[in-house]
Formats: sequence, structure tokens, C-alpha cells
Amino acid sequence: MEIIIQPSAEAATSVAARVIARLLREKPDAVIGLATGSTPLLLYRELIRMKLDWRKVTTFNLDEYVGLPKEHPQSYHSFMWENLLGHINIAKKNVHIPDGNTNDIPKFCAKYEKQIRAAGGIDLQVLGIGTDGHIGFNEPTSSLASRTRIKTLTQRTVQDNARFFGSEDKVPHHVITMGIGTIMEARQNLLLAFGPKKARAIAEAVEGPITSVNPASVLQMHPVTKVCLDEEAAAQLQRADYYRWVFDNKPGWQKI
Ligand code: PGA
Repeated sequence: MEIIIQPSAEAATSVAARVIARLLREKPDAVIGLATGSTPLLLYRELIRMKLDWRKVTTFNLDEYVGLPKEHPQSYHSFMWENLLGHINIAKKNVHIPDGNTNDIPKFCAKYEKQIRAAGGIDLQVLGIGTDGHIGFNEPTSSLASRTRIKTLTQRTVQDNARFFGSEDKVPHHVITMGIGTIMEARQNLLLAFGPKKARAIAEAVEGPITSVNPASVLQMHPVTKVCLDEEAAAQLQRADYYRWVFDNKPGWQKI
């Protein structure tokens, strides 16, 4: 893992945006995995500002709530069109977001996996992390080999997401999420985390043992993962000085 600690969420986001911009320049038909939640909002704002060319890009979102109408303001369909897709020149047919209203969830999930394979696999997957270490909605103890499927949220995630719904009882309990095995097949992962609430999950994911109890820790096994943090999310890392030193001393050709 490459740990990139920046003074602020804005600065960490700027690094992540540059990584994506470079990929789109090098590979205009890249396949990008997208995430939702409050963390990538700054990133999407920055990508819109950069006016990149998305015409040939294909996207796959990590997850969606089960049973929430697409038009619901808190559905991840609404989130994506409002915060990114509606503001870039992407072709609608190239956008993939799990259908939380499908009447055959296992069949839909198998099809989603097939669509990712047919698109040539994901070049870069954007990830947030839950306070419990989840990536996508792969909650603690998810199989590290899991594929796209239905999951039940933990009570902690329901509480964390209640802020978007106004109250806890309005948060759906079920979701469709790419699996950890699916995420591990992305050629590159770009995980962002900001603020003190993420510090423990980040420290465990980066410096703890690989364990399904912190699903993000499996990224230690991924060959190309960048973790972009602000100081607060990095606060519990034991080797923070080393990560800073690495980033500040990158050879010219590796600079972001
Ligand atoms: P957040 O969620 O960006 O809203 O903190 C992250 C996640 O649950 O993956």
C-alpha cells in the first residue's frame, strides 16, 4: 500500500484527482469503479472542475441500497447523477450502478460481475472506508473472496448513515455490493479517508493483521493501492513519518 498523508482533505483529494486524470489521459476508455458517501464528494467536485474527457469511460459503482426507489434522494443512483455523472460528458449506457430494485438479486449480481468482466475489468476503483473498516458495503467478517451479492448492514453502519436519511429507522438494512474478491481484481485501488472517525479503521487496515474483521486490511494483498488521507485520518498510524518521507522523496518519474 502507498500511504499518502496530506495536510487536509482537499490536498489528499487533489492527489487522488490527479491519479484519475492521468489514467484518463493515458487510457481514454478506462473502466472506473466509483464510490458514494461523503468522502468522495470533494473528489467528484474536483473531477468536474478538471473538465476531463469521459466520453469513452465506463463506470461501475460499488453498491446500492436494496428496495430504495432509484429516484429516492438517498439512492446511490441519485447520488451519482447529482454529484458527478450529471456534470461530465459520460455516455449513459456506460454507467453501471447496482439495481437495488431487481426482483432476482442473485441473478442481477451474477450479471453485474459478468458486465465488469466484459468491460475488461476495472482499471481503477475509488474506495471509502467505513468506521468499521468496510469497503463497498462489505461489513466485517465478509468473505475476503466474496463477489457481488446482497449484504446486511451492521447496526453501526446504519447509525453512521442515519445522517443522510434523517433517522436510523429510515436506513435500508440490505444492500447490493461488489464483493471483496471483486474489488481485489481492480488493477488499482484508490482509498480515501478523512477525519478523526476514520483513524482507527485506517490504522488497523494499513498496519494491523489482514483480517475479515477489518475488510480494508485485505488491500495489503493488493499490488497497486494508494491510500489518500488527511492528518486526522492518519493520526493513529505508527509509521506515518515513513509514509511522509516516502512521498516526499519519490523519484521524479513516480511523482503524482
Ligand atoms: P463516508 O462513508 O464516506 O460517508 O464516511 C464511507 C463508507 O461507508 O465507505
